[in-house]
Amino acid sequence: MFELKEMDGLARIGKFYTKHGVVETPALLPVINPNYMLISPNEMKEKFKAEMLITNSYIIYKKNELREKALKNGVHSLLGFDGPVMTDSGSFQMYVYGDVEIENREIVDFQKKIGSDVSTILDIISPPDRKYEDAKKDVEETIKRAKEVEADALTVQGSVYPDLREYCATELSKLDCILHPVGSVVPLMEKYRFSELVDVIVSSKKGLIPSRPVHLFGCGHPMIFPVAVLLGCDLFDSSSYAKYARHNRMMFPDGTKNVDEMKYPACPCPGCSNFDEIKEMNENEKTRKIAEHNLYVSFSEIKKIKQAVHEGGLWEMVEERCRAHPFLLSALKKIGEHKEFLERFEPVSRKSFFYTGKASLSRPIVYRFRKRIFERYEKPEADILVVLPESERPYSKTYHDVIKKISEKVNAHFVVNSVFGPVPVEFDEMYPVGQSVVPMDVECEKDLVKEYVKTFDYPNVLFWENEKTFEKLESFKKKSSFNADVQKIKSVAFYQFGKCPDLFKGKIKLVKSKNGKIRNVFVDGEHILSVRNDGFFTLKMGGAKKLHSILEYPKMRVAVNDDAVAFIMEGKNVFSKFVVECDPEIRPKDEVLIVDKNDILIGVGRATMNREEMLSFKKGIAVKVR
Ligand code: GUN
Ligand code: ZN
Repeated sequence: MFELKEMDGLARIGKFYTKHGVVETPALLPVINPNYMLISPNEMKEKFKAEMLITNSYIIYKKNELREKALKNGVHSLLGFDGPVMTDSGSFQMYVYGDVEIENREIVDFQKKIGSDVSTILDIISPPDRKYEDAKKDVEETIKRAKEVEADALTVQGSVYPDLREYCATELSKLDCILHPVGSVVPLMEKYRFSELVDVIVSSKKGLIPSRPVHLFGCGHPMIFPVAVLLGCDLFDSSSYAKYARHNRMMFPDGTKNVDEMKYPACPCPGCSNFDEIKEMNENEKTRKIAEHNLYVSFSEIKKIKQAVHEGGLWEMVEERCRAHPFLLSALKKIGEHKEFLERFEPVSRKSFFYTGKASLSRPIVYRFRKRIFERYEKPEADILVVLPESERPYSKTYHDVIKKISEKVNAHFVVNSVFGPVPVEFDEMYPVGQSVVPMDVECEKDLVKEYVKTFDYPNVLFWENEKTFEKLESFKKKSSFNADVQKIKSVAFYQFGKCPDLFKGKIKLVKSKNGKIRNVFVDGEHILSVRNDGFFTLKMGGAKKLHSILEYPKMRVAVNDDAVAFIMEGKNVFSKFVVECDPEIRPKDEVLIVDKNDILIGVGRATMNREEMLSFKKGIAVKVR
């Protein structure tokens, strides 16, 4: 069972329930070689705070002494670890050494007998150079094997072919299991083929059901952790900490260095505290020390990622980390190509948006923003569009005097030519615009403004430069005729809920704070909306009733089964297991209408997930009810 605690797009902090305890994800599972424990399982737990380990059941099976011990006392006793233990099946050995003398059923059965918390099928590894037809056969064989046993972990294969990956993931999702590894990625990792790795993860995620944790098999280098978590990987295993150490290689989030290269070691980990001594040590001691360093660094990176997910700053972290290597930069570019898929999981808002370069504009939130402007926005009746240059936020403050002076004379509408594209000034408090931090010398795309002007068909356009620009406005005599406040609430509501002019039918009254910001919206005396601190609206029950009658089912709806109705009417949250249907357009942090099976409105709240997630998770909250 898997439960989400926090999420940010596809990235998530979750609880993975096993027979030997709960593991918080993203988690790193150090690989323990039962023949040779460079660092003991007990140390893994005490020193590195490893919550879960992985070992290889085939190695145990093959060696009489280990097999007998494991069968008698269990794998936990064999390793001397009382936390959860995952076991791999021998697929990797089969791939490296050719035929292994074991069969799928036998090795899965063995893993169960020795008490593994997560048993793995004997899947067929398909490396990147595998021909399409052969990779397809591997996938079919893997699916066949998945059906013939009840393994806990069913591995997604399909080499570097997105359609095979998605197909394999879709088929495996139909079967009963608790975890999905993504396999055959080690050769991609080793050759720094990160861009293809992005495609492999994304295409696998497309087919997998969201409620099962995803394990990136054999990925133990911290360089790739942030990207993998951003794309929805929850578990990693590392034998790299030991393999690298044997070659005197130290792992860092931005790459790998040989210990002898380190003239000015700046690592704050306890393993490196007496760094000069490391160089003088004998081989065994040295390997151990470097392995310790590798583990400290890897676990520390996982922690940083979790903190970033918690703060809503993982995109910024990924963009920063991807500047460490040109091939990571390619991976970042590749992530941008998947923005349409990523947008489905993208929350309505975060605390901030730090622009770290052009790649930031390929984030799914920017894709959504541009799309919604063109699809959902309605411009006011104005004689002229004044295009203002990008500037400090909030735009309405920066351009307060300019807007006031022009509006007194001319019926003008104002759009900022921002990094996000054309931003009608009404959106200046809304995420991502109001919360964005952007360098002022950044170049903005001109084409999007052109497209905007064309789409919305303004009769006249003027690019604002400086005070002199006023002179060009002389010929326009009529002053502003539309109500800027009403335009603002409509614009935000249409962006958020879709076009819904009837929501504002009646006498509109706005309540503002001392500093002049709109706080509450009343229509015919009824409180329908409040402004949230991300610039969007909170739906009041009055507003919910109106939208429920305006918008056709299933728009904005989360429908729940009868068992949940009474609880929700009392104000209790909607748990995902009670959700029976949901608008596919709903995004995390969206305001939603909660209805019963017959579309009777029973509550209002804020979604924590999208439709796919609500329908898939059996544990956790889907909507926070107000
Ligand atoms: N270890 C690294 N990659 C793989 C894989 O694709 N399958 C299995 N079972 N183990 C792995
Ligand atoms: Zn160190």
